[in-house]
Amino acid sequence: MSLTEEIAKRRTFGIISHPDAGKTTLTEKLLLFGGAIQKAGAVKSNKIDMHARSDWMEIEKQRGISVATSVMAFEYEGSKINLLDTPGHQDFAEDTYRTLTAVDSVVMVVDCVKGVEIQTEKLMEVCRMRNTPVISFINKLDREGQDPYDLLDEIESKLDIKVHPLSWPIGMGKTFQGVYSLYDQSLRLFTASQQQLHEEATKIEDINSPELDQLIGENEAAQLREDVEFLDGVYGPLNPDDYLRGEIAPVFFGSAINNFGVKELLDTFLRISPEPRGRVLDEREVAPSENKFSGFVFKIHANMDPKHRNRLAFLRVCSGKFERGSNYFHTRQDKKFRISQATAFMAQDKETIDEAYPGDIIGLYDTGNFKIGDTLTEGEKGIYRGIPSFSPEIFREVINKDAMKTKQLEKGLSQLMDEGVAQLFNYELGSRKAVGTVGQLQFEVIQYRLKNEYGASADFVPMQLYKACWISADDPKKLDEFIASKQRHIAKDKDGKLVFMAESKAWLQMVQENFPEINYHFTSEF
Ligand code: G4P
Repeated sequence: MSLTEEIAKRRTFGIISHPDAGKTTLTEKLLLFGGAIQKAGAVKSNKIDMHARSDWMEIEKQRGISVATSVMAFEYEGSKINLLDTPGHQDFAEDTYRTLTAVDSVVMVVDCVKGVEIQTEKLMEVCRMRNTPVISFINKLDREGQDPYDLLDEIESKLDIKVHPLSWPIGMGKTFQGVYSLYDQSLRLFTASQQQLHEEATKIEDINSPELDQLIGENEAAQLREDVEFLDGVYGPLNPDDYLRGEIAPVFFGSAINNFGVKELLDTFLRISPEPRGRVLDEREVAPSENKFSGFVFKIHANMDPKHRNRLAFLRVCSGKFERGSNYFHTRQDKKFRISQATAFMAQDKETIDEAYPGDIIGLYDTGNFKIGDTLTEGEKGIYRGIPSFSPEIFREVINKDAMKTKQLEKGLSQLMDEGVAQLFNYELGSRKAVGTVGQLQFEVIQYRLKNEYGASADFVPMQLYKACWISADDPKKLDEFIASKQRHIAKDKDGKLVFMAESKAWLQMVQENFPEINYHFTSEF
């Protein structure tokens, strides 16, 4: 198969949702329909048990189990699907953001009872930053949920994206009878069954035919005709380019637990979703079809085996063909590495692979050479852009408790930051260090791992900080003046970029007004 054919058959996407909307269930059902697993319950997901949320050891255990399901690849109807799992737990939101940089499109699950929830709003913002095409799956139609029109309105207003329903529910909850496909004018009737794996579609040649009344009842048929006429009038046919540009989200309705609507979603997804797309290396857009291999690391999983400090770096292939055993250029370290071990992820199994193509995710065994954002090429210099750090929410100062172990503490902190567990900010004045995270949990993780893996001990003292703002200015003199006047509040991030550590919202506003020539950024890429 040629490189172009290999690319054309691949689809790399992630499923996002607020916890409990049904991401795990949908993932599992997609794998069942794809034939990658044989029975439900076989996949342990990245889902973190809410009961365990204060017990991070338990969470680490669950994360360990979930490595194999971080990426699930399977073949379906001639396509190779790479499905990337994203942790639902909000304390691991950064992990999810980074995973989204490695996908070409997203399926967003919304609970029809709860509607759009906060975590989905945040994730959608990340999708919008990169114009990632989004399909929405409204789940749990077997329950009494909100009116479907209200749900569409809510997606449009809360997620700031236009919607385009491709299926429409007939009833809901107790009266749920199935969905009518506006995309291919067919009817899928609902039976509540967690076992049954077929989803039959009956083509409806004429929506006004009495056949429809027989199938779903007179009143329901009348209502459906009215809905379809209205929806056709408002939305018309879907322009796939609007979806591919990330401007319009096609919407499906279903019930994942009952295997309903899942096949319709999968089949339509394969027809409209994007092939692996290009990525920007420094300033240059690299096309997947370029002959030379390149890729970037978007996730690092440590503690694969507690006895050895080995890690697995997840790399997305961006262009060309990856071949195991080749020497590839590590652009940050400016040297070549021979990649002798690489794994692919097939549903629950990991297997050694010899080659991979754009869109594929491969796992590279790592003894500390990689950090998030690292780029491998066949010689070209530069870094794949698009993996920004976001301003953390919680900050603590690191206080070394054991002066004899200063080196270990520094090494430990630096490696944990490479993995993206948290962000470290080094203050310009004195040697103060602030660690920033999105959730409390990370501090427990860091403290435990520093002690157990590096023999270092540190306290993390709460700091009164609101945001870390990356700063820049067109006029270097203005930047120098700003730094001089705010010296105590200036730090550097892991790449040496300047950051203004703002203590409160009000103070930040005041500083912004007093120094309007400074640009304040809430992500590290601008
Ligand atoms: P998440 O990964 O997004 O956090 O959600 P998950 O799939 O774990 O689903 C959350 C809960 O919603 C689960 O119930 C799951 O069974 C249920 N669920 C998923 N899809 C549907 C659906 O189509 N209809 C209905 N009624 N429920 C659905 P749970 O009680 O939390 O867990 P479990 O004991 O069933 O596993």
